Amino acid sequence: MKEKVLKTTVQVMAWDELSAAEQELMEVAKSQTQKSYSPYSHFQVGAAVRLEDGTIIVGTNQENAAYPSGLCAERAALFAAGSMHPELPVRVLAIACYTNGHFTAEPGSPCGSCRQVMVETEHRYPGKMKVMLYGEKHIFVFQSAQDLMPLSFVSEDLEG
Ligand code: THU
Repeated sequence: MKEKVLKTTVQVMAWDELSAAEQELMEVAKSQTQKSYSPYSHFQVGAAVRLEDGTIIVGTNQENAAYPSGLCAERAALFAAGSMHPELPVRVLAIACYTNGHFTAEPGSPCGSCRQVMVETEHRYPGKMKVMLYGEKHIFVFQSAQDLMPLSFVSEDLEG
């Protein structure tokens, strides 16, 4: 038997260490949390993506009385970007979570389905997509969506 070690890197950043453009995008994600439709979980997630040309597209989690019919904020934003500007690579995705009257102390961790969609979004364009997760204590920055999901399933896997 051989073992394969999968390594991933996350940068743990203070707010002041983000660039002005990164802070701006994160502020949009933070303000979006207040537009979340989350009457069941009361967990408000805001997402903001920056496209290659600088355009910002937003998303929030959208819940439903039929629980599985809802959608996470990350996928709402990425699918909106893919619908509105399919020709433009998504360069940065910023996410913030707000519950019980405050932003979470630790960065929110995206669910597996959102990670899969992040990887596909990155994969469909040349270059990388940065992912930033907001926490009051620190911000996690992944330089590539791939870093959030090693061994992910991509289009080439369909070819066998
Ligand atoms: N949620 C997101 O929007 N993004 C994630 O990555 C994790 C969870 C939403 C789904 C649901 O509306 C609420 O947070 C609680 O799970």
